[in-house]
Amino acid sequence: MSRAKELITLLCILTSQNVLAQNAAPVIGIISQPISHSLDYLSPGGTYIAASYVKWIESVGGRVVPLIAGSSQQNHSQLFESLNGILIPGGGNSIYDSSYASLGKEAFEFAKAANERGEYFPIWGTCLGFELLGLLSIEGQHYLKRCSASNIHLPLEFLPEWEQSKIFREASDGILDSLSSQNITANFHVWCLTMENFTKFEMDRFWLPITISHDEDGVEFISTMEARDYPFYGTQFHPEKNNFEFPAKYPEIPHSREAVEVSIYFASFFVNDARKSQQTFPTNLELEQNLIYNHKPVFVGTEEINSGFMQIYIFDKEI
Ligand SMILES: *[C@@H]1O[C@H](CO)[C@@H](O)[C@H](O)[C@H]1NC(C)=O
Ligand SMILES: *[C@@H]1O[C@H](CO)[C@@H](O)[C@H](O)[C@H]1NC(C)=O
Ligand SMILES: *[C@@H]1O[C@H](CO)[C@@H](O)[C@H](O)[C@H]1NC(C)=O
Repeated sequence: MSRAKELITLLCILTSQNVLAQNAAPVIGIISQPISHSLDYLSPGGTYIAASYVKWIESVGGRVVPLIAGSSQQNHSQLFESLNGILIPGGGNSIYDSSYASLGKEAFEFAKAANERGEYFPIWGTCLGFELLGLLSIEGQHYLKRCSASNIHLPLEFLPEWEQSKIFREASDGILDSLSSQNITANFHVWCLTMENFTKFEMDRFWLPITISHDEDGVEFISTMEARDYPFYGTQFHPEKNNFEFPAKYPEIPHSREAVEVSIYFASFFVNDARKSQQTFPTNLELEQNLIYNHKPVFVGTEEINSGFMQIYIFDKEI
């Protein structure tokens, strides 16, 4: 066999092994957080996960395990070792001091160590999750600027780095066009990561900044970033809202065909990345006992309740 042919054969074997090694049915852990004051009567002291995050993962072939913040019944370390990735959702809790922040930190440290020893273990942070990932990457230094980006829907402005980003380099022209020309990313945040602080806190050691957006007052903020050496991704906007949130409270959330397509694009990117993780639950029973299917979402998007979410999963405080 010629050297070239040998090489091609070897490449084919390697490629097919890679394909075989893909985990077709990844399981993603989603971190819960203390329930907001206005909904606390539903479960005093409990935590919640907005169902939109669960559906977002499920819509592209992932299954979900809730990681319940503050729970002593769940062994989080053991769950981390069985999952294929973690989603840190947005919400209204502290990134400095809350059960959500502590569990996010444990997940971040687990994932860093796992990737360093050659496992593949992705994390996606949305909105508050983006802010928490940023904080954890610079050992808890305060780095955010107060800003005005609540319930506004913005285009993404692509930095030159986008072409080398994992998150966008395989995106179609259609997806990139929609994101850059239409106001279809849903923003619900009052803190922003500016390029000035990104530089000041040397965050470029850890992160590749990929897109920026501008808040109501023209403040420029980083809207998408991904870690340089880890499969960690953060969006300051909420891709899951475009296809799954229709609360009476926020009629402006974008639901156009393009808005839904970009949501699916991001979900598919993340879940596909998690297919590279080889971790599994020790037994099918343990998987079954932990899946979100053991819980029922509650409809809180009615005009009467007027929550910002359509449905949430509630995890009662342990007694
Ligand atoms: C939780 O799981 C870890 C890792 O599997 C194990 O080392 C630890 O003993 C467990 N903790 C408890 C309280 O069961
Ligand atoms: C930079 O971070 C500090 C907190 O350390 C914050 O008070 C300030 O508003 C931020 N400034 C900019 C321009 O982002
Ligand atoms: C659309 O995005 C542009 C650019 O950021 C912004 O100036 C404008 O206010 C947005 N329009 C709406 C309706 O949100």
